[in-house]
Amino acid sequence: MQKLIVDGGQCLCGELSLQGSKNSALPIMAASLLAEGECVLTGCPKLTDIYSASRILNHTGCRCRFSGNTAVINSESADKSSIPEKMMSEMRSSIIFMGALLGRMGECTVSCPGGCELGPRPIDMHISALKKMGVEINDNYGRIVCRAKGKIHGARISLPFPSVGATENVILCAVKAEGETIINNAAREPEISDLCGFLRACGADISGDGESRIIIRGKTRLHGCEYGIMSDRIAGATYMCMTAATGGELILTNACVNAEESFISVLEQTGCSIYTGKDRIYLKCPRKLKALSERVRTMPHPGFPTDAQAILMAAILKSDGTSVFEENIFDCRYRHTDALIKMGADIQVLGKAAVVKGVSRLYGASVDATDLRGGAAMAVAALAAEGTTEIGSISHIDRGYERIEEAVTRLGGKMRRVSV
Ligand code: EPU
Repeated sequence: MQKLIVDGGQCLCGELSLQGSKNSALPIMAASLLAEGECVLTGCPKLTDIYSASRILNHTGCRCRFSGNTAVINSESADKSSIPEKMMSEMRSSIIFMGALLGRMGECTVSCPGGCELGPRPIDMHISALKKMGVEINDNYGRIVCRAKGKIHGARISLPFPSVGATENVILCAVKAEGETIINNAAREPEISDLCGFLRACGADISGDGESRIIIRGKTRLHGCEYGIMSDRIAGATYMCMTAATGGELILTNACVNAEESFISVLEQTGCSIYTGKDRIYLKCPRKLKALSERVRTMPHPGFPTDAQAILMAAILKSDGTSVFEENIFDCRYRHTDALIKMGADIQVLGKAAVVKGVSRLYGASVDATDLRGGAAMAVAALAAEGTTEIGSISHIDRGYERIEEAVTRLGGKMRRVSV
């Protein structure tokens, strides 16, 4: 078991090149099942979830290997359409293999995915959309058995909510289906556009991604390609929050500037100066942040991202005044607040809302990561705290951040990993 030990009080200053996006790389790895030939993915972050995806690919008969941040995937010999329950339970994104396997083999057997405990995470929208495309889906004692009645065909699908995963599953199934699929109320997250960019590089016919209506015309064959994964906007937001919490100065390179816009405009309310270039973000923070002047409401993209709620909350714990958050995406995404309160924060959770009153000091404590972004929030608060914080259960953090302690150390922070 490993822990992160953080000695707070250092100002984070310097330049950092951002890692590739986890939430882009995972569906793109699944999508490589659809391409006949070799896919070379550059900018693939080295994360436990990425290795879980590669184990699933290898299990289906693909050959997936890594060289640094490049994944090389050859799916020519893929022939297994059933993913064992244990592999499915390792991460939420395993559900994306449902659409990819259906697109490739016309059938699959999966089970409910694992991933962060953020409240109930049903897959009803995935299932009803795929049924519309001619897939028969049965729950067999927890195993979800999917089989096409004849050929999988295009359909007109209106999602009740712009679910990221459901949009991805429909796209993956539709690129090789017969005819045209239209997704109304599709998710508009940048990672969806990255997935579509990869599929287009493989020869797929997709338009409208980044907007609410995506049109996919099925192709009988897709080919391999070389593709660069976009950088991770939530990792970017996390390092910005660490810098803001400690009154530092940061240059982020390899940044997806457009994808960070909604986060940046909220962070600016705290008095930070932020300038953007083509692929870089410059951030200069005051010694004391102002409280957020507007209520932060998490919304589907282009709204404020739910994945940045906990880390922003951690950044403003010592701000001047009161800030209010409203979590609208997940039912249970304030689990990090107990640990922050233990460190001296003043937070009151009232249903969907969390009210944060700025305190003058935070103190080091022994805490456990509750989920990926909640764990990252504890790391943000620890850097702004007096004394030493020990963060346990860091396997959550390792699912999304490539050697977080090395990035922090490069910026002058004191964070180290120990085995216990
Ligand atoms: N939902 C349903 N039914 C469904 C699908 C979703 O009710 O069939 C609900 C969920 O329960 C949730 C909401 O819709 O309340 C949003 O879920 P969505 O499907 O959009 O999220 P996801 O695909 O499960 C991805 C990211 C999450 C990120 C969300 C929202 C990946 C691997 N995960 O999850 O990332 O929070 O979109 O942007 O892409 C993270 O990286 O820490 C993380 C949790």
